[in-house]
Amino acid sequence: MKEDVFVIDGGESLNGRVQVCGAKNAVLPMLAASVLTPEPVTVRGCPQITDVADMTEVLRALGVRAERNGRDITVSGTPALTEIPAHLACAMRSSVFMLGALLAECGEVRLFTPGGCRIGARPLDIHFDGFSRLGARVEYGEDFVRCTAQKLHGAEILLKYPSVGATENLIMASVKAEGTTRLVGAAREPEIVSLVRLLRKMGADISGEGTPVVTVRGVDCLDGAAAVPVPDRIVAGTVMAAVAVCGGRVELSGADSSVMGAVISPFLGAHTFLVEHGGVMVFESDGMLAPTDVSTGPYPLFPTDMQAPFMACQCYASGMSTMRETVFEDRFSHVAELRKMGARIALAGNTAFVDGSGGMRGAELRAADLRGGAGLVVAALGAEGRSTVSGVRYIDRGYERIEEVFSSLGGKIARVTAVR
Ligand code: UD1
Repeated sequence: MKEDVFVIDGGESLNGRVQVCGAKNAVLPMLAASVLTPEPVTVRGCPQITDVADMTEVLRALGVRAERNGRDITVSGTPALTEIPAHLACAMRSSVFMLGALLAECGEVRLFTPGGCRIGARPLDIHFDGFSRLGARVEYGEDFVRCTAQKLHGAEILLKYPSVGATENLIMASVKAEGTTRLVGAAREPEIVSLVRLLRKMGADISGEGTPVVTVRGVDCLDGAAAVPVPDRIVAGTVMAAVAVCGGRVELSGADSSVMGAVISPFLGAHTFLVEHGGVMVFESDGMLAPTDVSTGPYPLFPTDMQAPFMACQCYASGMSTMRETVFEDRFSHVAELRKMGARIALAGNTAFVDGSGGMRGAELRAADLRGGAGLVVAALGAEGRSTVSGVRYIDRGYERIEEVFSSLGGKIARVTAVR
């Protein structure tokens, strides 16, 4: 079997400029929202990553047109089907974003994944509870979800946790419902704000996005529109992590520090320098890192998607750091790989104790998920000697040619095809 692998010779400082594209986590729900109107909806600045390619495949499989023109993706037409094909649902958990939009547009949505591929290890109870309150009938099992509704109606919905996906799905489901919906305890991520900005341009009546209470007043129909997603703060943060470890100076063009607060703060210290002017963030590090105590949480707290890339930095800090993961259970698959490089990490419950005082050396590493994989790349760029990182297909889900980004900055990283 052929597989792409990164070969990384660590130890080079990173210098230059990186263009930050639209956030994957904004682009995916914005593309899902495009089925709420037959008119053309254009999402600009889309990254060339496999999650986005898979989402356009989902849309095409439903019978709408989805065309990419450079970084713009335009979707138009009415869905002919309401069932998301199993192979696409398996490949991409984000196809759950189609639930709210298809339910609102077609009154029905089905997602079956027979053959053992679970729709997701992550629960969807907050999504389902919200759909039910809007008047939908929700049936689900291990490998299927079916939601139907004659007519959705506004409701008061209390989210027991500020789930990003549930907030987005419930906004999309309620946008054409009869009456007013209030989501209380909603997630506040900037990617949700991007989705709402698109929906508002399409004619939706929504207020409160970016706060814990979002109000959606149902409208009869929506028009076409074009919108730009927020820049990808996780891609920008991953580049910062690599520069922090390797030392260097990078200009992050298109990044937006106003939505990056908690991503940035653990990087700041005596050995780093950050300024922003004219839409360019400049981050500089001498590669000396102080220990940090970081805890992930819903926005505006430190994002769980930065946990692994930042833990790679903690492996190089001069002393004991801690990383507490409060959003997802069991998001430490990169720890075993970092240990292969010499990292001294102890796990206790949801906290990793990272002793950075030893050195990090190259090793054979395997990415098992998107952000964990990015963390391994960061760690390998700083390590002494050669590393290989397999499982590149996970990294390609969310980073556009990450090896080109880092090699353009002076890192020694190449993609090779290995036969296993
Ligand atoms: C989104 C992001 C993902 C990020 C995550 C948290 C996209 C495509 N993905 O995922 O990159 O890591 O937000 O910032 O935008 N939960 C429930 N019941 C539910 C829904 C969620 O218990 O019905 C729990 C989850 O198990 C998890 C927590 O809530 O522990 C956060 O999940 P959620 O915010 O929903 O993440 P996603 O939307 O799946």
